[in-house]
Amino acid sequence: MLCLMTAAMLPGCMCRQNRSEKTVGIVMPSKALERWSRDGDYLKELFEEEGYSVQLRFSDDLLKQINDIQVLIADDVDILIVVPIDGGALARTLEDAEIKNIPVISYDTLVLNTDAIDCYVSFDNYSVGTLQGQYIVDSLAPDETEDTFNIELVTGDPADNNARFFFGGAIDVLQPYIKSGKFVVPSGKTTFEQTSTPAWSMDTAFKNMQNTLASYYSDGKRLDAVMCSNDSMGMGVINAIKSDYLGKNITVVTGQDGDASALRSIIDGQLSMTVYKDVRNEADVAVSVAKAILEGKNLDESLLSEFPAECVFDTESYDNGIKKVPSFLLVPEAIDAENIDKLVDTGSFVWDKKGKYIIPVK
Ligand code: BGC
Repeated sequence: MLCLMTAAMLPGCMCRQNRSEKTVGIVMPSKALERWSRDGDYLKELFEEEGYSVQLRFSDDLLKQINDIQVLIADDVDILIVVPIDGGALARTLEDAEIKNIPVISYDTLVLNTDAIDCYVSFDNYSVGTLQGQYIVDSLAPDETEDTFNIELVTGDPADNNARFFFGGAIDVLQPYIKSGKFVVPSGKTTFEQTSTPAWSMDTAFKNMQNTLASYYSDGKRLDAVMCSNDSMGMGVINAIKSDYLGKNITVVTGQDGDASALRSIIDGQLSMTVYKDVRNEADVAVSVAKAILEGKNLDESLLSEFPAECVFDTESYDNGIKKVPSFLLVPEAIDAENIDKLVDTGSFVWDKKGKYIIPVK
């Protein structure tokens, strides 16, 4: 009784009480990759602030993910937010959501081959790749010298639609230099298929880089840069360079996500950069889009003004094999040792007590 009276007196609580009948089912990939754990926390927190009840599940593998989605559909959640572990493997499962009229937002990574998804919320994945490629060009400055440079490519999981976009953006920047001979790829591995890394595994990236170093650099060849699509693999590459590279130069290595270990590595002068995607903003956009869907609003540019950060509404770029999926795409940013303070400005990171490293607020 006391609780009800208190709730009735507080406007925030009233809003919470009124809306609590709606449930959001969120399905993330494994918690083992730092970013999904952050996304999951933010989404849960933001939806709960809006008065929704949340069922959050992390799936370690595809079979568990299918099961997690089935459970949420059986529980009659009002809307599903899904990050697919394998973009092409959820079509059958999501048919059941469509039959029950449960809307689905494909979050960060696109679900392929199905009509069941209503929209896609992500970052501009192609730009992530161009930022990485451009960082390498700017660091090596091939246009300002007669020298040529040796580079290698390490790209992401073939089951993740984003991985090809990251690769596409990077290779479009690097290709002209590879073609002109300014950039040489001693391993000869320049296609997505030759450079992809299942499950974005740090371990696999480490072993692959060890093999590349043993096969193509054991004669003392200089390795100038590794275009690496994300932080987990970037850290694997850095570890292989530390243990197996004979050269003394600092190799430019790119990353993506702003993982805590990657930020430490940037400050220690090892990883050169990360493409930062403010996942709090991504979660915020997902919450606004989910609300719009549940309120029966149209998904179009008119929603953009409600978002906390710059975002583009794109109806052309993301074809999932069945339809062009309306997409809300946030803008990624390159972070290196020079501008790392910007992360503190986002409010999601602080300098640690000794003022040495930048750490996530939670
Ligand atoms: C995400 C990246 C992430 C990768 C591995 C991709 O779908 O967009 O931010 O690094 O998955 O988790």
